[in-house]
Amino acid sequence: MHNPWEDIDLNDYEGHMSLDSVYQLQVLSQIMKEQFYSYDVRNIMILGIAGGNGLEHIDKNRFTKVYGVDVNRQFLQESRERYCHLEDVYETICTDLLRDELQLPTSELLIANLLVEYIGYQCFQKVVKLVGPRYISCTIQINTGESFVSDSPYLHAFDNLEQVHHQMEEQALVESMLEIGFGVIKRTETRLPNEKKFVTIDFVK
Ligand SMILES: C[S@@+](CC[C@H](N)C(=O)[O-])C[C@H]1O[C@@H](n2cnc3c(N)ncnc32)[C@H](O)[C@@H]1O
Repeated sequence: MHNPWEDIDLNDYEGHMSLDSVYQLQVLSQIMKEQFYSYDVRNIMILGIAGGNGLEHIDKNRFTKVYGVDVNRQFLQESRERYCHLEDVYETICTDLLRDELQLPTSELLIANLLVEYIGYQCFQKVVKLVGPRYISCTIQINTGESFVSDSPYLHAFDNLEQVHHQMEEQALVESMLEIGFGVIKRTETRLPNEKKFVTIDFVK
């Protein structure tokens, strides 16, 4: 099945996400810095890495491998060009996580920020089992207002994402991770403009 994320232009995505009224790109970058350095791990897999937001915090002397996974080939290519100084450690994997015959390498820390929204809890469980991490850190968006996409001049670029979007519930995510042996070790809330907030939850096996 064709994934509507493959048709999104990176300029539209990042233009929208970095608007003053959205401000999610900037906030996610800070969240990722915290995710990278909270645990004693040497390799990381980042699901839904888009254009590489957050990679500016990677210290290549500390990490032996950082995988960036995304369904959009253009996003991944741009991320490699932007972070070419990380070429010894940064490796991209272009795949649709919703595919049946998915294959992924293992990693000690699995990061998924605003990604479970687009694959659902069950598929995320499948991905976690394949990657076999010790730690998982997920950021989900909680809406207190109406739409999952904030109003902006870029809004219509995202119309087709409705097809793959799942509304997130914190408790349901926690339960789905518990089912496969992961318990919560940390929870952080970050307020955003437009009546939205991020909740970041870290799990350990
Ligand atoms: C909302 S963005 C994530 C934000 C990103 N983590 C950041 O810091 O800007 C969702 C990302 O997940 C990717 N994605 C969505 N569904 C996917 C799937 N089924 N398989 C792989 N990547 C997917 C999209 O292409 C997009 O880059």
